Amino acid sequence: MTLENKLNITDQIELAKTEEKISKQKAKQLFDSGDINQVAVGQFAGLAFIHGYLFGDIYYFAGKVRDVNIATGNFRFAPVMYLEVSLNYIDTMPQNSFEAIIEKYVEMNVAHPFREGNGRATRIWLDLMLKKEIQQVVDWNQADKEEYLSAMQRSVVKDLEIKALLKSALTPEINDRALYMKGIDVSYYYEGYSEFKTEDL
Ligand SMILES: Nc1ncnc2c1ncn2[C@@H]1O[C@H](COP(=O)(O)OP(=O)(O)OP(=O)(O)O)[C@@H](O)[C@H]1O
Ligand SMILES: [Mg+2]
Repeated sequence: MTLENKLNITDQIELAKTEEKISKQKAKQLFDSGDINQVAVGQFAGLAFIHGYLFGDIYYFAGKVRDVNIATGNFRFAPVMYLEVSLNYIDTMPQNSFEAIIEKYVEMNVAHPFREGNGRATRIWLDLMLKKEIQQVVDWNQADKEEYLSAMQRSVVKDLEIKALLKSALTPEINDRALYMKGIDVSYYYEGYSEFKTEDL
């Protein structure tokens, strides 16, 4: 079953392509319009803004906390019952060092607050914390897909791998537009979307 969507698309391949195209256009607009500077950095409200911005034209659930339990592989993300408490707690977590920021990111990944699109929205949210607090961002092209996904799987038990991987991919080029656009493409590639280049949309 394809996810219910505002475009009434029922073909899953068409939905994947359309979702990729529209949400990448929105990711580009988020940067070029300067709307990205309105995001509440390190807060759930900021992540919900990003998610709503990217996916609001496609899904009714964009920017809204999910009301179903979800799992990837054999990992079950936070049960709906505890999600609100968890998100309130994450808002209070410190973000004053690289380590603290990754720990906060790992907790947000465990929360997985949305029905779909968590990975892609949360990586933008992570970069905004790094940019504001330590004046660096991740050059996602330097983080290999398989290594990243395996480090994220592992992060729910131990965060050493993801910290090492992302630390080695940091760059001080925090306002580089091309780096941001490329980062969106890599982030989508991690999740299986590589039909369009953000720059070209
Ligand atoms: N087994 C796992 N345990 C913990 N985290 C995981 C696991 N698998 C994936 N992740 C993390 O969750 C992110 C998104 O994965 P998933 O596909 O489950 O969510 P999603 O809501 O569909 O997000 P998106 O649509 O952006 O892919 C991955 O990029 C990774 O950071
Ligand atoms: Mg997905």
